[in-house]
Amino acid sequence: MDLARLLPAAAQSTRRILEIGSGHGHFLEAYASAHPTDFCLGIDYCAERSRRAARKQQRHEHGNLHFLRAEVWEFLDSLPLGLRFDRVFILFPDPWPKRRHRKYRLVSERFLDRLAPCVAPDAALYLRTDAAAYFAEAEEVIAAHVGWRLAPEAPWPFEQPTVFQSKARSFQSLVALSVNSAR
Ligand SMILES: C[S@@+](CC[C@H](N)C(=O)[O-])C[C@H]1O[C@@H](n2cnc3c(N)ncnc32)[C@H](O)[C@@H]1O
Repeated sequence: MDLARLLPAAAQSTRRILEIGSGHGHFLEAYASAHPTDFCLGIDYCAERSRRAARKQQRHEHGNLHFLRAEVWEFLDSLPLGLRFDRVFILFPDPWPKRRHRKYRLVSERFLDRLAPCVAPDAALYLRTDAAAYFAEAEEVIAAHVGWRLAPEAPWPFEQPTVFQSKARSFQSLVALSVNSAR
């Protein structure tokens, strides 16, 4: 994963945006078009979804849209020091509804610990899910974490339905802000 090649573009951009589990890339493609001076990077470990997303990248007119096939923990471990994200989107993460599988849910204390040093001061984390139990658990975990705080006052910055959002009957969204003093 050659992330270093993305550093110059990221450094020259207004904001650095990361979407984790970007799927087919619908959200980030639209976001990148609406924010041409933001550097937008989507990662997903699914080969087929990443291929579809990569085709969107090739067609994209502004050159600020990037997709990588990557596993999120490996990605964060290999992030170059100079790359810190201002906005992180997690849209419809795998819900893992069965009790014995809950440990696989991405938004957890361990994940928030791992993400904190990978974001800029005052970075925002945006989570949207149709899994009510996951949402409640994420709210609890974030509220208890010293590196992040729930920000109900913060607006959702951009709307573009994802594939999973289009199929969802309803969903919930939250915004969390990184707490600078924790780093
Ligand atoms: C339920 S889908 C949602 C996709 C898209 N965000 C949407 O709303 O349509 C979850 C996505 O997260 C990806 N994913 C799950 N675990 C991942 C991991 N550990 N690293 C990278 N991607 C992951 C899956 O491949 C899948 O594309």
